[in-house]
Amino acid sequence: MSHGDHQLGIYLSGMLEGKTPELTTDLAGLEERAREVLSPEALGYIVPSAGSGSTARDNRAAFDRRKIVPRMLRGVDRERDLSCEILGTRLPAPIAVAPMGVQTIAHPDGELATARAAAAVGVPYIHSTAAAHSFEQVAEAADGPRWYQLYWPTDQDVCRSFLDRAKAAGYTALLLTLDTTLLGWRPADLDRGYLPFLTGTGLANYLTDPHFQGVDNPIPHWAQMFPNPGLSWDDLPFLRRHWDGPIVLKGIMSADDAKLAAEHGMDGVVVSNHGGRQVDGALAALDALPAVAEAVGDRLTVLFDSGVRTGADVVKALALGARAVLVGRPVLYGLALGGQAGVEHVLRCLMGELDITLALSGYSSQHELSPSALA
Ligand code: FNR
Repeated sequence: MSHGDHQLGIYLSGMLEGKTPELTTDLAGLEERAREVLSPEALGYIVPSAGSGSTARDNRAAFDRRKIVPRMLRGVDRERDLSCEILGTRLPAPIAVAPMGVQTIAHPDGELATARAAAAVGVPYIHSTAAAHSFEQVAEAADGPRWYQLYWPTDQDVCRSFLDRAKAAGYTALLLTLDTTLLGWRPADLDRGYLPFLTGTGLANYLTDPHFQGVDNPIPHWAQMFPNPGLSWDDLPFLRRHWDGPIVLKGIMSADDAKLAAEHGMDGVVVSNHGGRQVDGALAALDALPAVAEAVGDRLTVLFDSGVRTGADVVKALALGARAVLVGRPVLYGLALGGQAGVEHVLRCLMGELDITLALSGYSSQHELSPSALA
């Protein structure tokens, strides 16, 4: 079986049973549909980006600017295997679900539905520190590959506790997000005065932590430990001491920082500008990717996110040196529109479109891609 067989399955359901997909297979078009079902607050939190939105637009423009050059008559395998090993985890395709907080604002099942969908498809679910369900609740709900994304709190005891709990609950790789030591300037939320954390939504990991028990005012307690702009390269050895799996730095946008990550013994980087939600005016993530891949691709696992919407986008990011991509908002759009089934739909369509685009471009697997696959 190839992931692209999902396409035939859809056609057969249509022609033999008269059944059409509940959600559109046009993954780039999902946002429009999701806008119709999200509450105004959730829409404002999920869809727009920081500042004027210029970086978010550039993320997309960078994909649109690059073009695949399909090659012909290359004897592509009839059955294609896109599986790969990333950070010690076997993936069915080079795709993982990006860490995203407060998923209950998109759908009441939130992270539980997303994790179940990821497990059903076999791709890693990455648990955000800012999740609306705890490490343990997610682990209980879904038995798939799972990684943990850390927002490093200034309280080192809480930090250690998060690492211990993640490990105990079966999260195998750690992603440290570097681009959000403070929240970016987000006009859509500011204009509504909307920040879900201030009513406790998105604080499940914190509020269930032993270090929060008996605290009189847990939300102000969280609010004073979240901002951490003082974080520096010197802090990384602490993570090594308290986490024995792979460690990946998320939010790397320059070759110089990527080299520092390698010098500091990290296992990987995620080239990402947080989907344009943090530094408005930052360069497109895809434009940052080639230099990072060139600098550390032979030493570190280079992952990518920010702007991936279609299978063709995945091909482009892989051609420019990413080993795998994380997919962000489209997963939340699927979640908002159809809960667990909606997320499964998004992942299966993305893997199907990736497989078909690869095959039609002349490749039997992503391992054959290089920058020369693009014009
Ligand atoms: C995010 N992202 C994010 N990243 C992270 O490391 N921890 C988090 O808690 C969150 N939370 C979050 C919430 C929402 C609503 C969004 C849309 C994004 C960023 C995410 O991991 C990823 O970097 C981007 O979403 C990738 O860009 P696209 O795919 O959304 O364009």
